[in-house]
Amino acid sequence: PIRLGIVSALREEQTGLLAQMRDMKTVTRGMRDYLHGNLWGVDCVCVLSRLGKVASATTVATLIERFDVSAVVFTGVAGSADPDVKVGDVVIAESLVQHDMDTRPLFPRFEIPLTGQSRFASDVGLSEKLHRAASLFLENDLKSAISLTQQQIFGLHRPRVHRGLIASGDEFIGSTARLRELREDFPDLLAVEMEGAAVAQVCFEFGIPFSVIRTISDGADETSAIDFLAFIREVAAVYAFHTTRRLCSILVEDG
Ligand code: ADE
Repeated sequence: PIRLGIVSALREEQTGLLAQMRDMKTVTRGMRDYLHGNLWGVDCVCVLSRLGKVASATTVATLIERFDVSAVVFTGVAGSADPDVKVGDVVIAESLVQHDMDTRPLFPRFEIPLTGQSRFASDVGLSEKLHRAASLFLENDLKSAISLTQQQIFGLHRPRVHRGLIASGDEFIGSTARLRELREDFPDLLAVEMEGAAVAQVCFEFGIPFSVIRTISDGADETSAIDFLAFIREVAAVYAFHTTRRLCSILVEDG
């Protein structure tokens, strides 16, 4: 049976999940609390990675080596890198790239040295289940989970699910000029964040299926109309809770 590692960067994204966990045991390792128990019928280990590639890579390596997870899902928020991807939309990674990796002249730009690749594909089956989970959430739970007023305050407009390329780097993207450079480097880019591609590299190297699901919190430009932590608490945490719940029931159904 599956043992699922569920990783988020920030505490605000995980709080609702922990209240649902049965038979929870906590193990602290490397300044992270690993919460092991049963979530909606699925054996899960939840952990907060903190921000950035090193933080998430070490956390996921520990999840795999010490907690023996058989699959990893990263949930969190991201900035949009495509005009079609709006605040409140969900992006599920098909592949991930580290936009700040550059070892030229030793290896081509963006290539992860000695892996021969710059993009890591997420697990197709897991991504498909996340897509179903996110669609079910948006169709069935969103209305009751977040009031219309709240949706308007946070700029949500009939949210949709997208699948494609996510870029990660140790850099918060908050300028149109920087975003334009990234879009030139990766014309098919949907979203930017700070952990996914590091998780992807570790899972690739250990041969563990993984995927990344992100709620779009901002346009990765100067127009930061919203309170970031308020968005995470009141929108992204709700998305993470319901999509995880839906994912767990899909995993139980599919056996
Ligand atoms: N996570 C959420 N928004 C982001 C942004 N604009 N850049 C990097 N990571 C993010």
